[in-house]
Amino acid sequence: MCGIVGYIGNNDSKEILLKGLEKLEYRGYDSAGIAVANGEGVHVFKEKGRIAELRKAVDADVFAATGIGHTRWATHGVPSRENSHPHQSQSGRLTLVHNGVIENYDILKREYLQNVPFKSETDTEVIVQLVELFVNEGNTVEEAFRRTLSLLHGSYALALIDDKDPDTIYVAKNKSPLLVGLGKEFNVVASDAMAMLQVTNEYVELMDKEMVIVTKEKVTIKNLDGEIVDRGSYIAELDASDIEKGTYPHYMLKEIDEQPLVMRKIIQNYQGGEGALEIDSDIVAAMKQADRIYIIAAGTSYHAGLVGKQFIERMAKLPVEVHISSEFGYNMPLLSEKPLFIFISQSGETADSRQVLVQVKEMGHPALTITNVPGSTLSREADFTLLLHAGPEIAVASTKAYTAQLAVLAILAEVTAKSRGFDVEFDLVKELGIVASAMESLTDSKEAFEDIAREYLTVTRNCFFIGRGIDFYVGLEGALKLKEISYIQAEGFAGGELKHGTIALIEEGTPVIALATQDYVNLSIRGNVKEVAARGAYPCIISMKGLETDGDRFVLPEVHHLLTPLISVIPLQLISYYAALHRDCDVDKPRNLAKSVTVE
Ligand code: G6P
Repeated sequence: MCGIVGYIGNNDSKEILLKGLEKLEYRGYDSAGIAVANGEGVHVFKEKGRIAELRKAVDADVFAATGIGHTRWATHGVPSRENSHPHQSQSGRLTLVHNGVIENYDILKREYLQNVPFKSETDTEVIVQLVELFVNEGNTVEEAFRRTLSLLHGSYALALIDDKDPDTIYVAKNKSPLLVGLGKEFNVVASDAMAMLQVTNEYVELMDKEMVIVTKEKVTIKNLDGEIVDRGSYIAELDASDIEKGTYPHYMLKEIDEQPLVMRKIIQNYQGGEGALEIDSDIVAAMKQADRIYIIAAGTSYHAGLVGKQFIERMAKLPVEVHISSEFGYNMPLLSEKPLFIFISQSGETADSRQVLVQVKEMGHPALTITNVPGSTLSREADFTLLLHAGPEIAVASTKAYTAQLAVLAILAEVTAKSRGFDVEFDLVKELGIVASAMESLTDSKEAFEDIAREYLTVTRNCFFIGRGIDFYVGLEGALKLKEISYIQAEGFAGGELKHGTIALIEEGTPVIALATQDYVNLSIRGNVKEVAARGAYPCIISMKGLETDGDRFVLPEVHHLLTPLISVIPLQLISYYAALHRDCDVDKPRNLAKSVTVE
């Protein structure tokens, strides 16, 4: 969600900024802009829509070795050229890009800026006008910037340039992610390392309420009191090829196909010398001490949490609650005496989850983050981290991160079970290996899923997913995938709950995708399918080998009954992909959505 880039060096910044913004496209955005400075003025180019539109608007003849860029995901004000960033101060001297939300922008506007004419509806413009106001009062830009930061409530990642001093970019952050990248005779700014991997893989992390003065030779981090903070750099372990599509038409398809490989990587990473699964002994101790686990997550990660609860409760016999992060903060359940919080987040940046983590830490409870992004905010701020090892996930619709989350949760459950003295009646390493092979056979069966998408979803306006037990949770994820990228209204339901309301929505031809992977509910879910079929629904049953009956649309290869979500989700991912494709939707960048949701 929103993205920032910046470059200061000797080369022309425009192409570096545009390429950087293209790498941030996956986060979701609806407009984009850059501002470049060369001592002869600041040139601002911005457009509503895709970066391709912005490219057309950029004047190729302007050479400027300093610049900032932004992709905007509208919060305050509709997506439009006026509301897109960069924003400029009244005189045009200062130019700013911002990610996040300034909660007190209206108060600041009334208190300090009554006489300033605003050009946009954004909260961001308040920041740049405030900096100018304080500059006009006799402060240096650095002082004015710092004073402005001390007034802001909310989340921000900021990059500011000054027409009168094109040799400096001022940067600051609070809650929203931002990094500074280091180069030889240049430095860069980026919301994530991927954006600037084109020029450097060496980065410095920024902490909340820090500001940074970036020149081409130097990066100076200061706290809000103006004291210098020393911090080393790190090398981002990313391979540029990991973030390329290669021969794939879409990242989503590439990421679906990567799932067997990710399974194998996870096994490798979590297998100790003796071949047994191992996790950090501090995490095992924390799991052992806990009397109840609270899983906090959003979106797909929340759906992974629902399955994770089954893993932990069934294997480790430890009670688990799963909560949507945006609800938990103000709707906190009564906590047990020794809770352990597990945050599941692909990006590690989701603001809704982060606000719960901050609360939980204030209460003094231990927290573990399961994430795909080492060094992400949720990873840094929790006591412990388990990594997904899924490689960068670029498509907005999460696929490989979901199955990686399930695998890591299964490993956590198994290791915890053993540490609590419970026998796990199967060999998880072997079973995950079987899962990886089953995944391969599913990703090799794309035509079958393309056919289902064509037959069931080409003209429909809605689609229901049903299942019982863990199949219900996978159905929720299937419905989310389908609605995210194809805009078909899709909902997941517990098979038995349908008749209590939702069945009223069934019409002639309504597609109902049913999962039947569990022996103990196989007959009941088939009964539910009959109920909807009797009312005109067009059912599509996806069953597990050994449980199939005549007329099932697809039979999944057999895997351990607890691990079926790892494979039953793949047909649903592929059906959603092809449904979106057939409907000419932008598969990787669905409308209104953001990959990394950094506002609450
Ligand atoms: C956004 C994305 C979803 C994702 C959710 C949670 O809404 O569009 O695909 O599941 O955030 O993201 P996280 O990075 O915390 O897993």
